[in-house]
Amino acid sequence: MFSRYKKSGKSRPKLVELSEVAAKQPPEPEVPPKTQRRAAKAPAQVVPMDKEKKRKERLSEIKVELHKRLLDDLNLAALETASEADLRAEISAIAAEALEEMEVVLNREERTTLNQELYDEVVGLGPLEPLLKDDTVNDILVNGPHQVFVERNGKLELTDTTFKDEKHLLRIIDKIVSAVGRRVDESNPYVDARLADGSRFNAMVPPIAVDGSLVSIRKFKKEKLSVDDLVRFGAFTEEMAAYLQAAVATRLNIIVSGGTGSGKTTTLNALSSFIDDSERILTIEDTAELQLQQTHVGRMESRPPNVEGKGAVTQRDCLRNALRMRPDRIIVGETRGEEVIDMLQAMNTGHDGSMTTIHANSARDAVSRLENMIAMAGIEMPIKAVRSQIASAVNLIVQASRLQDGSRRMVSITEITGMEGDVISMQEVFRFQRVGLTPDNKIIGHFTATGVRSHFSERFKMWGYELPASIFEPFEGEQR
Ligand SMILES: Nc1ncnc2c1ncn2[C@@H]1O[C@H](COP(=O)(O)OP(=O)(O)OP(=O)(O)O)[C@@H](O)[C@H]1O
Ligand SMILES: [Mg+2]
Repeated sequence: MFSRYKKSGKSRPKLVELSEVAAKQPPEPEVPPKTQRRAAKAPAQVVPMDKEKKRKERLSEIKVELHKRLLDDLNLAALETASEADLRAEISAIAAEALEEMEVVLNREERTTLNQELYDEVVGLGPLEPLLKDDTVNDILVNGPHQVFVERNGKLELTDTTFKDEKHLLRIIDKIVSAVGRRVDESNPYVDARLADGSRFNAMVPPIAVDGSLVSIRKFKKEKLSVDDLVRFGAFTEEMAAYLQAAVATRLNIIVSGGTGSGKTTTLNALSSFIDDSERILTIEDTAELQLQQTHVGRMESRPPNVEGKGAVTQRDCLRNALRMRPDRIIVGETRGEEVIDMLQAMNTGHDGSMTTIHANSARDAVSRLENMIAMAGIEMPIKAVRSQIASAVNLIVQASRLQDGSRRMVSITEITGMEGDVISMQEVFRFQRVGLTPDNKIIGHFTATGVRSHFSERFKMWGYELPASIFEPFEGEQR
């Protein structure tokens, strides 16, 4: 066989033990002969399961062997310029040749699967590849080589995807992080990176990860959920959307608060669609996830230190610099540390209409988190001063939540109205009222206004966003 992509002048590597074993053992025919089936004594369902398992194990061994051969045989440098079709043809040719040598017979379906898996190993991220391509998957969570979970529709599911062993998993992790110029090993055991498709990636390897490497991937969605999508999915109502539109357009400072994976970034992204196209927006993130629709957007991504501990550019650095870049609005993907000081200052000093997210379980909790972050940043200010700083900077807290049935909803919209003594005063304007659970564990409930008049009604009116009073009336309809 002649090939551009095959290394030349290299003799075929000797078959390793496994293939010798494989060669000695002719493959089991796909459908066992009748006599054999009859002779089986064990209960009918046990035999096929056992066989199926053995066959799977064997296939996985063959795959490992073939993959080794591919890496030996393929001219990896030439791969970069190879077209996908060429490469697929090449891989299937090398695999067919090897299978023949190993005297392994596979049916057409097994061959197709094998070729796809080999292709994924060579150019992609191996066993993770099908999950990355699956649009119904939001998150991929790997707990060591033999356990891979995914999140679909807000619920975690165990998949039958596995890695051959820890070495295989480490190889895939290494492939990802080396592509972005990072390293992960014993002395540097965790890393954040972004996959080529924009997905957010984090890995932690042994010995810090005790039972094998831990990988978490938040898939990047090209089509971010719009306000209309979110209303359609029941994340919030049209009335709440109208209120939020007024809030964004009239430049209130907004914090989206929520737990992990509750939809904070998605909400922030959707809210940003209400910003006028003529404004200059600067976004600052640890991993660039936001996809703003406006024309005038400057995107910044912080950078961790390199292996020598140098070159870090923090969100705070970006934020300070952003203030010198004439922004109309600043959007910080997630406030989690010392950048909180600059964020609040920016909100207080003319960059109103800024937005960020924060990891917290309620509006009150979000405020306490802000207070804690300020204290941790080493700012020594009396608590009252801290609170009044927060109260004058933040206007609105939108609480996102992933409920127990997996649905994601905006469970509360709360306005910050000022200070009463030492306490920040707030009023909830909308909330999700939960009333029960269906037999199949779906949450029954409805969104409702709380009946309070918005603290910002006058502002909305002055800016030309006169919201009908009915928006603020409590829900009186049927339960949903
Ligand atoms: N209302 C919704 N309906 C359905 N899917 C949603 C909804 N909101 C968010 N999602 C999906 O849920 C996943 C998590 O959302 P998102 O990244 O916005 O969460 P997050 O709170 O920012 O998470 P993290 O804490 O990890 O940053 C995404 O894949 C997103 O597409
Ligand atoms: Mg997020």
